[in-house]
Amino acid sequence: MSKIPKNTILSKQRLAKATYEFWIDNALVAENAKPGQFVIIRTSEKGERIPITIADTQENAFRIVVKAVGKSTIELCMKNAGEQLYDIVGPLGKPSEIDCYGDVLIIGGGVGIAAILPIAKALKNAGNKVRVILGAKTSTELILQDEFSFADKLVICTDDGSEGIKGTVVDGMMEEFNLENPNVIWSVGPAPMMKATSMIAAQYGIPIWVSLNAIMVDGTGMCGGCRVLIRKEENGVTKEEIKYVCVDGPEFDGRYVDWESFIRRLQQYKEEEQKALERFLE
Ligand code: FAD
Ligand code: NAD
Ligand code: FES
Repeated sequence: MSKIPKNTILSKQRLAKATYEFWIDNALVAENAKPGQFVIIRTSEKGERIPITIADTQENAFRIVVKAVGKSTIELCMKNAGEQLYDIVGPLGKPSEIDCYGDVLIIGGGVGIAAILPIAKALKNAGNKVRVILGAKTSTELILQDEFSFADKLVICTDDGSEGIKGTVVDGMMEEFNLENPNVIWSVGPAPMMKATSMIAAQYGIPIWVSLNAIMVDGTGMCGGCRVLIRKEENGVTKEEIKYVCVDGPEFDGRYVDWESFIRRLQQYKEEEQKALERFLE
């Protein structure tokens, strides 16, 4: 069978409000993807290039879960089974550092839950005790919860208390810390969530991998669009480094991310993004 990617959508399923799962025909991505990696998708010839995490693979196809938040993700979520995506580059980024650490705490918020699923599975297969915390605004926005049945413990948090603990994943995290501190943490979701969980991990001195959802352009380390400031104290000296999320990441130890500049950069094109969406919806 030909391995030239067709990028045909094999199936599409609505998982929650504005959130869709797609299986896409692309053997090159399917055969080479490792947990933590992503693809850059262009839906149409004139479309923007958007980074999306590889949520699963099977023979000749891979899965993505997309939340429609702006022009390009809405355009992608309007595509249906049988249609083709214009181009896909990947797998990109460094894979997650899967090893046997002992007790691992996995935290997923919103559509970030799809991104942590392959990481959690790989950590379980590597012999870890895997505790998982999933968070959503409300129970109807909670995705893929049944697919975490392999976990040693699964904790659900909803902001409105419609399922599980009433509160954010931070509340779930504090309850788990009261039982036992993990050896390492993975946390993927909105930037304020990754920042909040990283602040707690820093207080306890526990490494925490966050997957930074930077705005990307080329995905090859050339344009600088996805740069992030990493700040570390070594022997009393503060060391600052610029890293590129697309090639050095997307995972970084959240204790050392300069969250203020990262969150500011996520907001920098808000006006242009709003205009692009309005033009698209006209
Ligand atoms: P825009 O018009 O660009 O933005 C709409 C709104 O979303 C604005 O408020 C804007 O500030 C905000 N926004 C824009 N880009 C981002 C961003 N990267 N993160 C957070 N908010 C943003 N999304 C998924 O749905 N599923 C995934 O699996 C997924 N994986 C990702 C993996 C990586 C490595 C990265 C970097 C991002 C990932 N994202 C994922 C986020 C996704 O790329 C953005 O939501 C998308 O680029 C937004 O494009 P847009 O044109 O639809 O929205
Ligand atoms: P959301 O706004 O619905 O939030 C989901 C949950 O995250 C909340 O229910 C809560 O438990 C937690 N949370 C949110 N804000 C918090 C805060 N300030 N403090 C503590 N906890 C908080 O999530 P969404 O709209 O689905 O957004 C998901 C985000 O994940 C997007 O920004 C997307 O870009 C990002 N993402 C990143 C990747 C990646 O690999 N980098 C992959 C997928 C998604
Ligand atoms: Fe251009 Fe990362 S997207 S350097």
